[in-house]
Amino acid sequence: MDDLPKKAPRNAAVARPALSPARRDSIRAYLLSWYRHGHRDLPWRKPDDPYATWISEIMLQQTRVETVKDYFRRFMARFPTPTALAQANLDDVLFHWSGLGYYARARNLHAAACEIVARYDGHFPRDPDAVRGLPGIGPYTAGAILSLAFRQRAALVDGNVIRVLSRLFAIGEPVESAAVKRRHWELAEELVPPSSATAPHDSQNDPGDFNQGLMELGATVCLPKNPTCLVCPLFALCQGRRLGDPEQFPAKKRERQVPVIQMVTLLVRHKAQVLLTRRPPMGLWGGLWEPPTGDLVEGETQRDALLRLAKDRLGLALDRRTASLEALPPFDHRLTHRHIQFSPYRLLLRAARPPPLRLDGGYQEARWIDPAAPAALGLSAWVSTLLASQLNPGSIR
Ligand code: ADE
Repeated sequence: MDDLPKKAPRNAAVARPALSPARRDSIRAYLLSWYRHGHRDLPWRKPDDPYATWISEIMLQQTRVETVKDYFRRFMARFPTPTALAQANLDDVLFHWSGLGYYARARNLHAAACEIVARYDGHFPRDPDAVRGLPGIGPYTAGAILSLAFRQRAALVDGNVIRVLSRLFAIGEPVESAAVKRRHWELAEELVPPSSATAPHDSQNDPGDFNQGLMELGATVCLPKNPTCLVCPLFALCQGRRLGDPEQFPAKKRERQVPVIQMVTLLVRHKAQVLLTRRPPMGLWGGLWEPPTGDLVEGETQRDALLRLAKDRLGLALDRRTASLEALPPFDHRLTHRHIQFSPYRLLLRAARPPPLRLDGGYQEARWIDPAAPAALGLSAWVSTLLASQLNPGSIR
């Protein structure tokens, strides 16, 4: 256990940190014992259910555990098997994803469920290449499904695991570099134990419990700030802690400047109804429904952008006799890669009947909905908030 160098290696990323069999076995034993003596009771921690593992791991990418819990329960109640998911229409799947963000995840789940039905008779495949070949399943998710649900020896590396390994092996180089990413994967692969052929689940060396333990440690003890090293099962083995300041690992990312984008959005109202249009299937908010929305191009006024949006994308020519326009409070929406400033407007149509639409510019479907009883459609978080504000004016933040 005392085989740790006392100084940080100069190039820990490429100079392989020592991982003797004795140290590897100690890490496995301490981590497994700690995990098995108590961990969070999370709804997806049912052993040997690859479907539940898959859905939860996809939801947990980019989304906090507390947020995922309710989404996971609702999703599993509505789509309990790959077949149920494959048979559902995409709108229903997106509806159950509404507010979670990164909607390509839901579209890929649906596509992968269709493939599981078509190629594997509705049973989640257990062959590693088949798992990795499903839409939306990358190395992390494949490792999670293979190890947690099928108890195969497969590694996984997510943000929590990166932090634990960076500290345990004092890897100080920026984690974005390809060499460091490779090093984390190599370490995770060396550490994850093989499962015992005789008693897979009760064996001392269970790859699923080991991987859950790494993630649990990162989420509850080896925290980004103020890690609680004194209660860490790997205290004595941790090189970052030995060096005196585990928080310096992993190296902090440089803050990226995200572009700020201005958008106008048109809440077209006809009597009690609001017009929603469906975005094209791919790209940002792909396949979701929204009030017609468009970018403000440089030098354009909001009013001009709205008129352009109404004319070019809805086929509506507006004039004062038939419609009135009112600005609503602006609001911001932050995404990882961009920061959007929305300027919403309410457009009241006075005609007895809603005018015919000529959709273009990406919109292919439109529906009039009652915001008091919204249909089961996929809506992003900002759209839900905006529609709710139509019920209680003043509630937009
Ligand atoms: N984050 C990602 N996967 C997780 C899991 N299986 N349990 C807890 N947190 C996680």
